Amino acid sequence: MKIGILTGGGDCPGLNAVIRAVVRKAEKGGDGVLGIRNGWKGLVEGMVEPLTGVSVSGILPRGGTILGTSRTNPFKSMEDVVRCENNFRHYGLDGLVAVGGEDTLGVARQFHQRGLPVVGVPKTIDNDLAGTDQTFGFDTAVNVVVEAIDRLHTTAESHDRVLVVEVMGRHAGWIAAVSAIAGGADGCLVPEKPFDVEEVCAAVRARKGRGKKFSVIVVAEGARPREGAAVTRDGAKDEFDHERLGGIGAWVAGEVEKRTGCETRSVVLGHTQRGGTPTAFDRLIGTRFGLRAVDLVRQKRFGRMVSLGGMRVVDVPLPPLDQRMRTLDMELYKDAEVFFG
Ligand code: F6P
Repeated sequence: MKIGILTGGGDCPGLNAVIRAVVRKAEKGGDGVLGIRNGWKGLVEGMVEPLTGVSVSGILPRGGTILGTSRTNPFKSMEDVVRCENNFRHYGLDGLVAVGGEDTLGVARQFHQRGLPVVGVPKTIDNDLAGTDQTFGFDTAVNVVVEAIDRLHTTAESHDRVLVVEVMGRHAGWIAAVSAIAGGADGCLVPEKPFDVEEVCAAVRARKGRGKKFSVIVVAEGARPREGAAVTRDGAKDEFDHERLGGIGAWVAGEVEKRTGCETRSVVLGHTQRGGTPTAFDRLIGTRFGLRAVDLVRQKRFGRMVSLGGMRVVDVPLPPLDQRMRTLDMELYKDAEVFFG
């Protein structure tokens, strides 16, 4: 068999673990692997490289993806769709493993509906994909944020300051809420619950009243005030119609300083959350997902996505567009709230 593999969308720690596992398992069974470069762009333009045990040697601890990635959406043009299908045949692929988030897997589903033998592997630091209890990349991102919160705590305390930390997650508050709990944050704002900035200020004042003159507040990039919209950077959209979020942390910091009189700073963690070496958990999940994806191809169970069900690796149908998003479990947010103020 000849198995293709591509990584699409934003990169995330653990992608190389998937690639390595696919190649190692395929080789063990006598199958070959063709790496497609830069996500769907590589299938449109025919950018490929054969992958062997040698090419994936040593990549397990490496962040990013050795295949490169892009946010290319071939379904923006029928010509590109046909190019992908022609290239698929031209390279003699028997199956394709598409590793990505909601956009990449959405394209995978569309190709599957047109008859291409495709399986999906869910990845995103945002952890916002339906059909799996967790995506790989999320654990590493949370660990980056928690380390940052720990560091910000000490400087906030030394200066009697409020530190507002803006984290990624797009329209889901998973990274924010889990990091807030694990980092012991004094407040956390998430997209799923529009906030009243006065309540944030009340929490800061309450802590001050107890002699705690500093606070650390985690703000998800997609959080928005009750009366407002999410803050976008420039209004520009990517090929999947996503706006670039960012700036809400600075806005919250400005309001908190103005209303409470406490010196306040904001920090945007940005792409540090996506970079660097994956945690052991993300290496484990990425590896197990990759192994199971090869099984799906060999069993010709196309249109499926590997997934985490509890601690077991299972598989589910590639989710349709209207069921692809998984927002924050508000039970978890309630747990975080116990520690606010
Ligand atoms: O989906 C992953 C993610 O990191 C989001 O959390 C964030 O909003 C977005 O990608 C950033 O995208 P880009 O890398 O294109 O700036």
